[in-house]
Amino acid sequence: MIEKPAMTEKNIIIKIKRQDKPASSAYWQTFEVPHRPFANIISCLMEIQKSPTTGNGETVSPVTWDSNCLEEVCGSCTMLINGQVRQACTALVDNLTTPITLEPMSKFPVVRDLQVDRERMFKNLKKVKAWIDIDGSHDIGEGPIMQDQDRAKRYIMSECMTCGCCLEACPQFTMDNSFLGAATFNQVRLFNLHPTGEMKKEERLDAVMGEGGITDCGNAQVCVEVCPKNIPLTESIADIGRQTTWQAIKNLFTK
Ligand code: FES
Repeated sequence: MIEKPAMTEKNIIIKIKRQDKPASSAYWQTFEVPHRPFANIISCLMEIQKSPTTGNGETVSPVTWDSNCLEEVCGSCTMLINGQVRQACTALVDNLTTPITLEPMSKFPVVRDLQVDRERMFKNLKKVKAWIDIDGSHDIGEGPIMQDQDRAKRYIMSECMTCGCCLEACPQFTMDNSFLGAATFNQVRLFNLHPTGEMKKEERLDAVMGEGGITDCGNAQVCVEVCPKNIPLTESIADIGRQTTWQAIKNLFTK
């Protein structure tokens, strides 16, 4: 049986940057929630949702946010917590300085309050064909054997949850450019390293050699600092840089 956390005297002050609609202006509201040991930011938001009353006693519309897995796997709860981009489900209030500030990510359009639209990331994955083609839904037998060291390398890269942390931190990724960003380059590396995925290697490399591609990376290296999965993003960027150089030479003779 899970023990219920004890209520304490202390209240947690949470300042939330809110926005009613995609085109409306942002504003701040402050809420207080009872302190519970081991509480995460999502549970505080749920507490606010139950009774959306600000610190001034004003009843307001409930705060909205995205979340799903609650175990740092889906990436949907990514937001700025005390100015740091991270997942709200694994941000424990006891490890945060108060008052706690919550803001939506700034590199994606706000849908409402803490919810943002990360569609650009998924469109980028489509651009680079970040998948493994199969011949059909029939049984096509066992896949090709992979070397253990390649499998281990791919496993780390496959942990990307398309959360957007790397893009939020990247000075090169802005709302008005088409930079693909570290998460996409990492997926190109991941799928190019697969014995079947390799079939589309050239198409993927051509996609990252266009506008917003690998040469737009300014090498700030902050992506790797904020990745919650510790994916070696700068290694992936360097590797894709090498792959595209070879591809450019090859294109000179074949295209
Ligand atoms: S809810 Fe899935 S990562 Fe937080």
